[in-house]
Amino acid sequence: MTTADLFRDLSDRPAPVRLGDGAWLLPRFACDRAEALLAALDGVLRQAPLRHMQTPGGHTMTVAMSCCGERGWHSDAAGYRYTTFDPHCGRRWPPMPAVFVELAVAAAATAGYPGFVPDSCLINRYGADAKLSPHQDRDERDLSHPIVSLSLGLPARFRFGGPRRRDRLLRTDLEHGDVVVWGGASRLAYHGVLPLAGGRHPSTGDCRYNLSFRRAG
Ligand code: SIN
Ligand code: FE2
Repeated sequence: MTTADLFRDLSDRPAPVRLGDGAWLLPRFACDRAEALLAALDGVLRQAPLRHMQTPGGHTMTVAMSCCGERGWHSDAAGYRYTTFDPHCGRRWPPMPAVFVELAVAAAATAGYPGFVPDSCLINRYGADAKLSPHQDRDERDLSHPIVSLSLGLPARFRFGGPRRRDRLLRTDLEHGDVVVWGGASRLAYHGVLPLAGGRHPSTGDCRYNLSFRRAG
């Protein structure tokens, strides 16, 4: 790739959209490496298959999940927590592919969080009936690190609010290759995902993936 190509790629990306104080949507940020990200995801999911976790309240999550990196997130009757081993098989979570780390580092730096390096990637797969009620991501040890969230496949109807449950939730559609980064004053913003509108995506078929990169430990 020549320097001219590089600048054309960068200028083709739509400008970042501010979702809140310290929270940015980077439209199509990952489009140029989406196929490499999906190929790496496939490798991870062979080692740590998707599963429907139990909530502490005894419900089965509609979103299918897995993880990679030094730490993975797990939920069961005992609560939410990060673990270094996959409770499903007793082995370490698969290592985080380099293409994941590079994407997360670049997106965080673009959104104003230079120096962010993830040690955990949560993988969510949304099929027709999956949704995620508004919640805060608060199981990470040091909340000065942002969350970097990548969408692949079918569009999501994403909701993003403020640090109090009663704060109004904005609705924004997240497309294939979009990245949302939230930290600082928005680190504990409530967010959720409405059920998919349906359809088929050329790269993922009838589902959507979300990869969220965190510094958990
Ligand atoms: C999450 O909150 O963990 C996932 C958000 C998303 O799927 O966009
Ligand atoms: Fe979340």
